[in-house]
Amino acid sequence: MKRTGWLLLTAALLIATALRAQQQQTQKEQFINKLLQRMTLQEKIGQLNLLTSDMDVTGPFMKPGYKKDIETGACGAIFNAYTPQYTRQLQEMALKTRLKIPLLFGYDVIHGHKTIFPIPLGEACTWDMALMQKSARIAAVEASADGLHWTYSPMVDIARDPRWGRVAEGVGEDTWYGMQVAKAKVKGYQGTDLSADSTVLACVKHFALYGAIEAGRDYNTVDMSRRRMYQEYLPPYKAAVDAGVATVMTSFNEIDGIPATGNKWLLTDLLREQWGFNGFVVTDYTAINEMIAHGVAEDELEAGALAMNAGVDMDMQGGVYAGQLKKLVEQKKVTMQQIDTAVYRVLAAKYDLGLFSDPFRYCDPARAQREIMRPAHLQAAREIAKRSIVLLKNEKQLLPLRKQGTIAVIGPLANSQRDMIGNWSAAGDASKAVTLLQGIKNKLGSGVKILYEQGAYITGDTGMLKKALQKPRLETADTANAAQMLNDAVSLAQQADVVIMALGESQGMSGEAASRSGIGIPDNQQQLLKAVYATGKPVVLVLMNGRPLTLEWEDAHISAILETWFLGTEAGNAIADVLFGDYNPAGKITMTFPRNTGQIPIYYNHRSTGRPLNPDNKYTSKYLDVSNDPLYPFGYGLSYTKFTYGPLQLSSRQMSRGGQLRASIQVSNTGGYDGEEVVQLYIRDKVGSVTRPVKELKGFKKIFLEKGQSTTVTFIIHLEDLEFYDKDMQWTAEPGEFTVFVGTNSRDVQAADFTLN
Ligand code: BGC
Repeated sequence: MKRTGWLLLTAALLIATALRAQQQQTQKEQFINKLLQRMTLQEKIGQLNLLTSDMDVTGPFMKPGYKKDIETGACGAIFNAYTPQYTRQLQEMALKTRLKIPLLFGYDVIHGHKTIFPIPLGEACTWDMALMQKSARIAAVEASADGLHWTYSPMVDIARDPRWGRVAEGVGEDTWYGMQVAKAKVKGYQGTDLSADSTVLACVKHFALYGAIEAGRDYNTVDMSRRRMYQEYLPPYKAAVDAGVATVMTSFNEIDGIPATGNKWLLTDLLREQWGFNGFVVTDYTAINEMIAHGVAEDELEAGALAMNAGVDMDMQGGVYAGQLKKLVEQKKVTMQQIDTAVYRVLAAKYDLGLFSDPFRYCDPARAQREIMRPAHLQAAREIAKRSIVLLKNEKQLLPLRKQGTIAVIGPLANSQRDMIGNWSAAGDASKAVTLLQGIKNKLGSGVKILYEQGAYITGDTGMLKKALQKPRLETADTANAAQMLNDAVSLAQQADVVIMALGESQGMSGEAASRSGIGIPDNQQQLLKAVYATGKPVVLVLMNGRPLTLEWEDAHISAILETWFLGTEAGNAIADVLFGDYNPAGKITMTFPRNTGQIPIYYNHRSTGRPLNPDNKYTSKYLDVSNDPLYPFGYGLSYTKFTYGPLQLSSRQMSRGGQLRASIQVSNTGGYDGEEVVQLYIRDKVGSVTRPVKELKGFKKIFLEKGQSTTVTFIIHLEDLEFYDKDMQWTAEPGEFTVFVGTNSRDVQAADFTLN
């Protein structure tokens, strides 16, 4: 009786909620359609025009005079403008236009707004979806308090070429992992209700396949099979769409010969019709105009037609829609219906955010004051930063260091605030960032002697420095006293018990337009490292960089190596937590570290060739001068403690299509510290109608074990973990033999086989 009552009540509530949603949807449609009817063609075109303010730009400044465009209703959205005061000022201008349609404010809030979190490739090493969602949530809280409605994140481009500087912005090479992060980020930014006042529209980018550009050179050509696209590169974008992402950004590259921004198959057939996306599509920066340089349009008129007919709703900064759409309608190359559809989508996003009821809802200075960089946000930044750190090597347990004696801190990145917040830290305030030197000082009392020398410039290649730094910095090109700096650093090292060296890349050496053909630590820094190493003092190498680096010499010689990426505002405190053992590192890399650039592209989930490596047989797939395996494999990362794995047990050797299988393994903390471990599950389909990867990540569990403790970790394997696109491009699981692997990274695993019936 009681149970029936509950059921009835739940059913009634569900029906009431559904009815309310239906009613709200109808109200929204009526509101927007009524507004659309009142709009002139020019006013409609204005809504499809996104312009940058003059606060910051990432490309050529094509369309100056944005304020005049706002006043005349010729622009419906602005990016690179924030603060409640400034956005209010611009919003007031928009509200003086005939129809008083509010502006939408977008920005690249990539890894935090003011409180900066680790770069995405670093944060991915946490293997913690809740934390990744949390950093997006905090970013949304701060961005919305600072006048923003829309972030150009998450970037979910699968990337297997570390020469490409933009690998820093994504989560690396794995499709399944990329899908999980995509969902977490969308949820974090958008929350459950876009009309809540701390949510922002997310924008999944760069649609699509940008991460597969040839030779790792930014903006370059992409060419790949449909199979690889569907199986490996598209799923993270799809996961974002399934999670309800409000907007999608096109990519700069071509797909199958047609630039993404003019690609109807991509933007309409796939995105809208197959995937059911119903938000709006924005181009990347001037991507419509660039179709002229791509050679698929003669002029802007033609480029605009291509974009509109492909399914692009909003033009970012190119001014092509603003300049050409009217003509295109007159010439009947674009229909009014198409324009109305695009405008509807943009207005719907504004409606969902609640901007029609209160255009100034994100313009409250008191809220900005209260929310931005509040202590809880900084605390979260430190938590996430320390969990992003990866221990790559720790010979003879050099780490953690004792809080005693004399410590030398050396390197061009040891005390550089700007580098800590990394690239794409758009609104980040470098002056608030904690450097490594400061973090160490914060941690250690006066009983420890801390010495510091810069030792080297970021690079001796001044040409590269100029290219890498958007805005000239003080240290540019001045290499005059490099030899003296190196000598000073060596003398300093000689006085110390241990040397901590902060080396790697400056923030401008990765990110957009920052491809490198060699991805080692710059030569001059290596000279410094070698000179300090030669003193015989124990050296801890603290790496800071935006991509996997080639580290063969470092790995062979330096006792302890910590990968710290660019960890954000709290970087120095987080690194000090790890260096001195207040936190036991547990990060695992999500992008393979090659031995040298000749191995690129290198990724763990490759397919088998017909001649798999056999060291004793010359005619097998290998190099003469380097081994096939990477320096550090996907999923790799050490701990101060030791985890021992028992044998892998399967609940059965047979699985039926409707059934499932349990894979269990005992993990014991047999070392001297409490710690966390990411236990990883991989699966291989041994024989398929098409070739299958040698293994694919299908799950993981992050566990905490006190020293001496053991636990059994169990994964449930479902049919969907075995599915793929078969020879007819049907999504299915084929019967036959599979191997399950469980382990501490993609290389060091235990295996067991089963058959799918
Ligand atoms: C980048 C995008 C970014 C946009 C706006 C472009 O150059 O490719 O990722 O969102 O600029 O700043």
